[in-house]
Amino acid sequence: MKFVFLLLLAAILNSAYVAAQRPVPTNYDESKVPPYTLPDPLLAANGKKITTAKEWERKQRPYVLGLFTEHVYGKIPGRPKGMHFELTDIDTTALNGTAIRKQVTAYFGEGNDAPSMNILLYLPRNSSKAPVFVGLNFKGNHRVNADKGIFISRHWKKETPDDIPTLASQEALRGTTASRWEIEEAIKRGYGIATVHYEDIEVDDKDGWKQGFRTTLKDRLNIQPESWSAISAWAWGLSRIQDYLETDPAADAGKTIVLGHSRLGKTALWAAANDQRFAIAISNNSGEGGAALSRRLFGERIWDLNNAFPHWFVAKYKTYNNKEDQLPVDQHMLLSLIAPRPLYVASASEDAWADPKGEFLSAKNAEPVYRLYKLTGLNGEEMPTENHPVGDRVRYHIRTGKHDITLYDWNRYMDLADKYLR
Ligand code: GCU
Repeated sequence: MKFVFLLLLAAILNSAYVAAQRPVPTNYDESKVPPYTLPDPLLAANGKKITTAKEWERKQRPYVLGLFTEHVYGKIPGRPKGMHFELTDIDTTALNGTAIRKQVTAYFGEGNDAPSMNILLYLPRNSSKAPVFVGLNFKGNHRVNADKGIFISRHWKKETPDDIPTLASQEALRGTTASRWEIEEAIKRGYGIATVHYEDIEVDDKDGWKQGFRTTLKDRLNIQPESWSAISAWAWGLSRIQDYLETDPAADAGKTIVLGHSRLGKTALWAAANDQRFAIAISNNSGEGGAALSRRLFGERIWDLNNAFPHWFVAKYKTYNNKEDQLPVDQHMLLSLIAPRPLYVASASEDAWADPKGEFLSAKNAEPVYRLYKLTGLNGEEMPTENHPVGDRVRYHIRTGKHDITLYDWNRYMDLADKYLR
């Protein structure tokens, strides 16, 4: 009896140990990617194959969405009762007179002591109703543009490990992430941009949920913190920006484009999968847990995500550490949930960690769902060379350079929006 118990204990400890270890060094060698088989997005739970868009929408889409909810990202609740918006700032001659700047506080409950987030919105001044790009930002609204009228966001990132950020240091950092937010360019092309600092929603740290909306809104939203994840909470925030846009007559809210870079690209995809009000979805270098296929063992792995960022996904996702092949989904199925809407997946040539080819193949393997709608996605394209976008309704490019979002990327996203929203 004692012996059996010891054996059992050893087995448990061993499996915990295996799950805690990264199996092999990061693989960056194409010839060492083991063969894999992707799950079929059109294979229903009862073993039958889905053949029509109607069946996809009625049965299979909710089923696939449910799999991602259960195994990967967790739930996304609706909007809380009493949610309201307050316009706290307007400048009708922003950005050298080309734009209207608005800042809006979204309160998630009655009254103004409810938890809130601050939306920064620019709209082209010469348009009465503009489509808007919506995305979360990493370091604070005040860093996306040098415009002095932008309120300083409330959570401040340390610039170095022993930095103690102050209001003065934040003032000095205004506009320092502007290269990632091509606001002037978007305005020129007739688009608005709305953004929120993602840490208004939840600080990106393993304990961030304790002070974030997953805790402060748990009664109002009637959901326990562990039933969702940081990525779901951030995605929820994107949908609340859309709620605001629907109240603003200057925004063409039927044409919102949701976009995100890296972890916020994972977030944008999950938001668009859940909220079909987003007309176009854009994933910029979103990598593992975003656009990249998990079963293709190249670059970052599920273990890496769970180890460095245990708060991003639900607890169940950890059971797939080193067991990617046992996940009931792969990320091409997340991209399938964007169909029939236009989708852009982009990589960068020096971003091997995010597995550019895995991002491409994922977009390519979303094709069967677009076909149900008699649409073509990447339509048999092969992995293109650098700076050569391919596809039409589903597009892909690999930009020369590092993990980042640049003017080149933004221009391609606006090209897609021009074609489908104008
Ligand atoms: C890390 C993480 C990636 C993520 C990236 C980012 O590199 O491993 O999964 O996409 O951070 O958000 O910049």
